[in-house]
Formats: sequence, C-alpha cells, structure tokens
Amino acid sequence: MNDDAHILHLPSPYRLVEVESIDSTNAEAKRLAESGAPDYTLVWAKRQTAGRGRRGRSWVSSEGNLYFSILLRMPYPIRDVMQLGFVVANAVADAVQVLVPRGAFVNVKWPNDVLVENQKIAGILMEAEMDAAKPGQLEWLVLGIGVNINSHPADIDSEHPATSLAAQGVTGAGLDVQAMLDTLAKRFLAGLATWRNLGFGPIRRHWLARAKGLGGPVTVRLADETLHGIFAALDEDGALVLHLDGQPNRRITAGDVFFPN
Ligand code: BTN
Repeated sequence: MNDDAHILHLPSPYRLVEVESIDSTNAEAKRLAESGAPDYTLVWAKRQTAGRGRRGRSWVSSEGNLYFSILLRMPYPIRDVMQLGFVVANAVADAVQVLVPRGAFVNVKWPNDVLVENQKIAGILMEAEMDAAKPGQLEWLVLGIGVNINSHPADIDSEHPATSLAAQGVTGAGLDVQAMLDTLAKRFLAGLATWRNLGFGPIRRHWLARAKGLGGPVTVRLADETLHGIFAALDEDGALVLHLDGQPNRRITAGDVFFPN
C-alpha cells in the first residue's frame, strides 16, 4: 500500500473519525451523538476490543476487517429505522458481489446479514435514541457495519458459519479495508438518496431479489418462543411476514431466522 492509500477522503457530508482501536464503533458513535456530534459522523476503527453484534452477542474484531458506524440524526418515525438496515445490507451485498470470484453466490438473510455461499460475511447493528420531545420520533440512529475482509471467526456451530473475502478467494486490492469503507460509504449515500426520493419500494425489491429462503420454510427464534412457518414476504416496514399453518400470519420485527439445510 502506498502512503496515499492511507489518506481517506470520504465524500460530503461524512465527517470521519478514525481510530486505531476502540471498544466498539457503535458505542463511540453513540457517545459522540450524546455530545452533539453532527449528522453523518462516521467512526472507523482498525480493531475493536468489545465489538457488539445483534441480540447481545459479541463481534470478533481483530485487525484486517472493516468496523465502522454512521451516526444519522433522524427526523423520522421509528418505523423507518428498520428500512435503513436494508439500505445498508443492499450496499454491502452489492459491494461484495463485485469482488467475489464469478459464480460465488451472494445473498441477504433477514434482517440484515450478508452471506456468501451461505456463510455470513457481514452484519449490521442498529441502535437508536428516541426524541424525548417528540413521541415516536428518533433523535439519532447509529448504523454499525462489520465486514469480514481478511479473516473470519471460527464457526460457532453449523447454524452460524462465517466467511471472509479472503476465504472466498479475493486477493490483492480486493482485500483493502479502506477501499471497502470508501465504497460502502458512497453506496450507502446512493441508497439513502433512493430511499428518501422513492421510498422503501425499490430498496425492498432489490433486497428481495437476493433474499435467502423467501417462499420456503423458516424457523424464527424469538426471545420467548420458536416459530416454524413459511417466509411469505417482507412487508412495507421491513418486517418478515411469517405464514403459519392454520393461524394468522405473524409480522416478525426482531429475532433470528434459520433455514433448513
Ligand atoms: C450482527 O450481529 O450481525 C451485527 C454485527 C455488527 C458489527 C459491527 S462492527 C462495527 C459496529 N460496532 C460494533 O460494535 N458492532 C458493529
């Protein structure tokens, strides 16, 4: 890598906060939000010491992969938040698809995972603060994105296989963490513009075109129950519509989904 490659100029309106090591870029973005940091503050860390995943899990964060969080000050209702996760997942899936050798199968798994050959390569963690003065409205939202580039954690079990760009045969410039950040930052801005101008429709269609398991059997694990049904649709808010035998459909807004092998 030459020296210039270390100078990252993200397009306006991003404001880059770059650190070598931090507990979690999401935690830092939230701290910055609380202290008044502007919209589009983007925190990028080379490694995290306490990387966080969805549902209280940890996110292994050694150097060589991409860890960043974007702070958005959102004058939007809470229901829009879920939609933005799909904007990010589409950006990551598109960027990964361009890099992996031809024929590798990239898809998205509800809610916001990106898979290559059915192994997870990226995850997204969204954290939001409500506006105390305006019920139902957000004050800010942090979108945290982790992409496995040079390494991936060992599989916890067969339900959670992981992969990285390197493990998928990507080499050379394709493994440049900074280049991936630059690409994703730009693709996210483009997706956000589409979402603002045209709504969730095009985002949803783009996501559904690559959705794992659509129309097939799925197990949904919630905090207090496990449901077995058919992944019937993604609704207008981004909830998974679960078709259950002999019962009304259920809208799933949080949970883990599993597909039969
Ligand atoms: C998941 O469980 O799939 C979500 C993983 C999100 C990981 C990213 S890495 C950057 C940001 N900071 C964190 O602590 N988590 C997110």
